[in-house]
Amino acid sequence: MADIQTIKRICGDGGWVDGGGAGAAAFTVDQREKFHGRAALIAMPGSAAEVAAVLRHCNARGIGVVPQGGNTGMAGGATPSAGGGQIILHLGRMNRIREVDRANFTVSAEAGCVLAAVQEAAQRAGLLFPLAMGSQGSCMIGGALSTNAGGVRVLRYGNARELTLGLEVALADGRVLDGMNKLRKSNSGYDWKQWFIGAEGTLGVVTAAVLRLFPDETHARTCWLALGGAGDAVRLFGDFRDALGGALSCFEFMEGECVAQVLRTIPGVRNPLVKNYPAYVLVQSGAQSAAAAGGEILPALLARLLDEKKILDATIAAGEAQAANLWKIREAIPEAEKKRGGYVKHDISLPLSTLADFMAESRRWIAQDFPGAVTAAFGHVGDGNLHFNVRLPSGADAGAFTEKVYAEVHAHGGSFSAEHGIGQLRKKELLAFKSAGEIALMRRLKETLDPNNIMNPGKVLD
Ligand code: MLT
Ligand code: ZN
Repeated sequence: MADIQTIKRICGDGGWVDGGGAGAAAFTVDQREKFHGRAALIAMPGSAAEVAAVLRHCNARGIGVVPQGGNTGMAGGATPSAGGGQIILHLGRMNRIREVDRANFTVSAEAGCVLAAVQEAAQRAGLLFPLAMGSQGSCMIGGALSTNAGGVRVLRYGNARELTLGLEVALADGRVLDGMNKLRKSNSGYDWKQWFIGAEGTLGVVTAAVLRLFPDETHARTCWLALGGAGDAVRLFGDFRDALGGALSCFEFMEGECVAQVLRTIPGVRNPLVKNYPAYVLVQSGAQSAAAAGGEILPALLARLLDEKKILDATIAAGEAQAANLWKIREAIPEAEKKRGGYVKHDISLPLSTLADFMAESRRWIAQDFPGAVTAAFGHVGDGNLHFNVRLPSGADAGAFTEKVYAEVHAHGGSFSAEHGIGQLRKKELLAFKSAGEIALMRRLKETLDPNNIMNPGKVLD
């Protein structure tokens, strides 16, 4: 109790929420409602110095600290254990954009900035911060970096890792590392910021970052294509890449079942085509001039693809409202799946060269071993990343199904975890699929930076 009082004092008035109070559930349950934890306190420090002071105190007393941003993670990485002894360290009060450096194409933002706020700050300067995903209205920069978030524009701009130039991190022992580098070139020893990006808060707390900005895609073109299945999507991606080159920003795949669920359950969306098809792709290209964005190329390309029967139907969005409708369908898929319930979810990645074969092979054994199963895969096919979600027939063994999916992914040279991370959800698979040498190296890093195991205990590695 004295410890909790000390942490409350560090964070000051308005800087904490009672762990046992009515408001705690928003922090102690993950957004998929798969993990239910308890927290002794939700601490909300207002500066990196306060974060460091909380960590120093917790390190001395052996109190587990669970860093949390928007609580939109998909793997339970920001949910405390059920014991109630850990505290949540919520970064939401640290929401200052420290600087937009237009000449340098960078933004410096604190960890608690909502992703959409960083996008808007860039936009006000006539620039683009390209990290984008369905949860951008509530997820925060610290969480996005800590999970190395991907989203819908990785194809052109890379993951959070590639978008980060500098990082400020509070360590378990209460030191603050100032690495707010704004340079694109600075070969000066180990690139330690990469240890913390994607570490899911197990090595330290990201408190601020310097992020890369790009010319705005003012002439974005968005189109919606109907096709026969995932194999066609991979081949089609090659056609688009050849035709649009670097202007291709997004290439999102959706099985027909995903779109049907959205149209059934999400109000305010319209089917862009008159018929239903086995699968769809949402493509966006963008640049500062209409010609560079593929404005003239797209109609001819789609006509050729229709001619060659590589696509079954297509529509180009005429204006922002139509483009917004297409994006709403794509981005509402997780919500529609949650409303429907009963999906076994997998976040997998494969080399583009084996993705079509993986889909065909999986379809074959799913039909044979799990008759009645409905696949609802979608995702970032341009990155080789599929959210391979399946509704199993009642009584089917979901654990055995998932094991089979991961074995198939592994056999095709892929990963069991593409962009959602390990959290509490995939610790078993991490041990199964990483080599002993890799796990040993990860453990050594963890022991070096967090010898008392206070940083997000029970996540990624036990
Ligand atoms: C998405 O691509 O929509 C997100 O990764 C969320 C999800 O997979 O459910
Ligand atoms: Zn995704």
